[in-house]
Amino acid sequence: MDLFETMIHHSSVRSFTQQELSAELKERLILAAQSASSSNFLQAFSLIEITDQKKRKAIEKIANFPVDNGNNGQFYIFVADLNKHANVLTLKEDSMEYLRTMESLVVAIVDATLAAQSMAVYAESVDLGICYVGGIRNDLFQMKEILDLPELTYPVFGMFIGYPAVKNEVKPRMPVNAVLGTNTYRSLTPELINSYDEETTAYYQGRRSNVQETNWSEKVHQHFEFPRRQNTSEFLKKQGFVF
Ligand SMILES: Cc1cc2nc3c(=O)[nH]c(=O)nc-3n(C[C@H](O)[C@H](O)[C@H](O)COP(=O)(O)O)c2cc1C
Repeated sequence: MDLFETMIHHSSVRSFTQQELSAELKERLILAAQSASSSNFLQAFSLIEITDQKKRKAIEKIANFPVDNGNNGQFYIFVADLNKHANVLTLKEDSMEYLRTMESLVVAIVDATLAAQSMAVYAESVDLGICYVGGIRNDLFQMKEILDLPELTYPVFGMFIGYPAVKNEVKPRMPVNAVLGTNTYRSLTPELINSYDEETTAYYQGRRSNVQETNWSEKVHQHFEFPRRQNTSEFLKKQGFVF
C-alpha cells in the first residue's frame, strides 16, 4: 500500500501480537515523532516509554483501556512540556511569566500532538498498529505521581504501538463537504448530519465486533451528556500555568 492508501485505511488497534519491536524500529519511531514541525522550534513535548509492568497496569487502569492487549505493544506517554524551557530561562534568571500562559500550553499540546501523529503515520506505514489513549487524563494527579511529572508539564495522551493481532474495520469519516469550506467556515447542516448518521448506523450495525444500534450524532449526544475530567484546569494551575 502506498502512504496515502495506508493513511485512509487507518483504524485504531487495541489488540497486539507478542512480536516485539526491534530496537532499530523503536528508534525510528522516536525520530519520526521528533521530526514533526514544531511551533517556533520550541519542541515543547517529551515522550515517556512505559516499560515497568506495575506502572503500565496502573496507567491502563486509570485509562480504562479495553485491555485485551496484555503486555504486548509498546506504550508511550506524550507530554506537553514547557519544563525544558523553564530550565533554559532559569539559566539567565529570565521571567517565566509568558511561559505559564494558555497560549504556551496550546503550543505545547500542539507540538506533542504533531509528534504523536508523525509517529503514528510512520508506524502504520510499516504495518504496525496504534491506538491513542486519552483515558490517561482520567486521573491527572495520579499520572503526575506515576510519571514524576515536574511543573509546566501535562500528559496529553498515551499511545500503544505494536503488531496488530486484530484490525478493526475503517470507520467512515464525514463527507468532505462537511469539513471543507472555501474561504469561509462551512456549518454542518441537518441534511449532512442525517446522511452521515445513516452511513454510521450501517457501520455500527455491520462491523464484526461490538455491534451497536447507534450513529455519529447519537455518540455526540452521549459524549456531551455529562461533564468529563472536571479537574483539568485545577491540575494545570497546580502545574504552574496561569489563566
Ligand atoms: C487524542 C485521542 C485519544 C483517544 N483515547 C482513546 C482511549 O482512551 N481509548 C480508546 O480505546 N481509544 C481512544 N482513542 C481512539 C479513538 O476512539 C479513535 O481514534 C476513534 O474512535 C476513531 O476510530 P479509528 O481510530 O479506528 O478510525 C483516542 C483517539 C485520540 C485521537
